[in-house]
Amino acid sequence: MAVQDERFSLRINGSAVRTPIALASMAGVVDAVYTLARAAHVGATFLGGYSVDQPTLAASRRMAGNSRAEFLLDDPIPALRREVGALDGSGLIVGLNLRSATPEALAEVARAIGPSVVYEIDAHCRQPEMIEVGAGEALVHRPEALEASIRALRDEGVSVSVKFRAGVASDDRAIARRCWEAGAEVLHVDLMDFGYPKIREIRNSVPLTLIANNSITTFDQMREMLSHGADLVSLARGASERTLAGLDAAITRYADEQGWYNSPKQLCRGGDIRSLAFCCMPVKSCPLLPTLEKIGLSRDRYISLKQEAVRGTPLEGGAQTCFGSLSWCCKSSSPCMFRDITLQQMGLSKKEYMQAKRQLSERITHDVFEPHTAP
Ligand SMILES: Cc1cc2nc3c(=O)[nH]c(=O)nc-3n(C[C@H](O)[C@H](O)[C@H](O)COP(=O)(O)O)c2cc1C
Ligand code: SF4
Ligand code: SF4
Repeated sequence: MAVQDERFSLRINGSAVRTPIALASMAGVVDAVYTLARAAHVGATFLGGYSVDQPTLAASRRMAGNSRAEFLLDDPIPALRREVGALDGSGLIVGLNLRSATPEALAEVARAIGPSVVYEIDAHCRQPEMIEVGAGEALVHRPEALEASIRALRDEGVSVSVKFRAGVASDDRAIARRCWEAGAEVLHVDLMDFGYPKIREIRNSVPLTLIANNSITTFDQMREMLSHGADLVSLARGASERTLAGLDAAITRYADEQGWYNSPKQLCRGGDIRSLAFCCMPVKSCPLLPTLEKIGLSRDRYISLKQEAVRGTPLEGGAQTCFGSLSWCCKSSSPCMFRDITLQQMGLSKKEYMQAKRQLSERITHDVFEPHTAP
């Protein structure tokens, strides 16, 4: 796992993610057998969705009666234990996508199955039967109930993901922040037709692990999500072995060549908050100052933060660059002779440069969100 750890530097539930591709749940379809057939090309799987209490099980039965595929588990806990057990040793991050009308039923599952899996709250399902019992999408309209579910799981000491559709809440940023404050680790966002601007909006609002979902089946679509703030992408309908293998091979090659698999675009090209690592000194009229104002980082703090963060690192040097230090320099994909000569003189590859920029961006992001860090 050592090379893979290094390749993506991405962890969920305390474990390294082999590749930033996840299987998104499809009720009645995504189980351990389905996952094992695709395990070579994904890093995470969200089994389910499973209904785990009487109201949601009854809703699932009504949905199945309307010829929708559903997992109908008479006794959910032993069945889920078997599914999770079948993925032991797979090297995947395993998540359970769960529907429940109450936080207690979720907590009961977490107590029984334990912290080796991620508990994904299904706040996504829009079937009227599920909404009627207060589960699925109903949770987005009742954020206090969603928070109670997150807290109940956190009280059991497990990792929590929340799956929701963008555009259901009047303000997706507010839902994201409430999930963060309640203790979620992952947000799994079905972007519907909103595309990458929505993932950027959420990236700029919370420091959580973000999974972008919906119609992502090509490497260009994947990179578009990753370069606007996603940590992983997930696939449901398009999750054929062939598609997954193609995405896995392409992102692995990209990471090995470029060093930062989900590097953002430059800020002036629409990048998210992480792109401050590539921004210049604030000396001209450009998107930098309005962005700093928006995120509550003063101009002086931005300057001192970058200076402190690169002290003693290769990015501190670079007297021949525009602002006297590589900390203010652009992305490796922006052509620049001065930066490239500096890197050459330092014996630093472009890949190492991008890895150093990633660390700088993590430091900046931490500083931006730290004052608001959830308990
Ligand atoms: C048949 C089917 C069943 C689904 N069941 C669930 C579910 O139980 N829980 C859930 O969170 N999402 C469920 N979804 C939504 C998918 O996980 C995913 O968000 C959506 O299909 C968009 O992603 P895609 O374009 O990769 O398919 C389901 C989707 C389909 C097509
Ligand atoms: S500071 Fe430089 S990189 Fe950042 S937005 Fe302005 S011009 Fe673009
Ligand atoms: S030296 Fe090149 S890479 Fe560095 S800030 Fe100037 S233009 Fe950008």
